[in-house]
Amino acid sequence: MRAVLLGPPGAGKGTQAVRLVERYNVPQISTGDIFRKNIKEGTELGRKAQEYMNSGQLVPDELVVDLVKDRLLKDDCKNGYLLDGFPRTIFQAEQLDKFLEEQGQQLDAVINFEVGYDTLIARLTGRRVCKSCGASYHVVNMPPKTEGLCDRCGGELEQRKDDTKETAVNRISVYEESTAPLIDYYSKTGALKNFDGETDPDQLLEEIVSVIGE
Ligand code: AP5
Ligand code: MG
Repeated sequence: MRAVLLGPPGAGKGTQAVRLVERYNVPQISTGDIFRKNIKEGTELGRKAQEYMNSGQLVPDELVVDLVKDRLLKDDCKNGYLLDGFPRTIFQAEQLDKFLEEQGQQLDAVINFEVGYDTLIARLTGRRVCKSCGASYHVVNMPPKTEGLCDRCGGELEQRKDDTKETAVNRISVYEESTAPLIDYYSKTGALKNFDGETDPDQLLEEIVSVIGE
């Protein structure tokens, strides 16, 4: 299964990706996670991406496209993958199409999550992530069993630098301008499947599976 998860910041792409990875046994490729890992490790890519991410801007296309293409050529992507946070611009989508054509492949689905503005802001500002394993929580919607600690590994929870109200607002407007046009782009190819992202995450998984198939 080759699929793209599309939707504004806080739509629940990462939350569904965890469930879909388990169901379909394909890797999640999150460009945001790749950049955050590079920032943590202090690589040159991380250094270049950091400023854009912290202010809620997109990282320039030239730093993203080759990175994703290289990742998609790895062995674990042979049976498919779940792209989370890529493509995010029309240019990135066109580059992905070119790549797929070269590989003789196509996307099975573009899974688009629709979520209202106020919900997005509440989700982003309330999100907490584990410093050690990256698991994601929400102070109200999905609180950990012990406040401040990860259920999975006991690691400390922290707030992402770009999850302040100001940066969240900025990220949503960048989404509207640069990424929302992909909805139209993919509706023309017939790959687009829309979902109500305000549904309970486990129920949403079942809805997705019923639309895109087992
Ligand atoms: P990225 O990490 O991709 O962030 P994003 O798109 O802003 O999306 P988020 O991760 O914030 O939200 P999500 O949809 O995954 O929601 P989640 O499941 O966590 O990108 C970060 C930055 O990297 C970008 O700003 C950019 O600078 C750069 N970047 C990345 N890719 C790029 C690219 N291709 N090109 C250029 N730049 C790029 O859920 C959010 C919260 O809501 C959680 O707390 C969760 O518990 C809760 N929640 C989720 N679903 C539900 C539900 N159904 N019900 C109740 N609560 C829910
Ligand atoms: Mg995410």
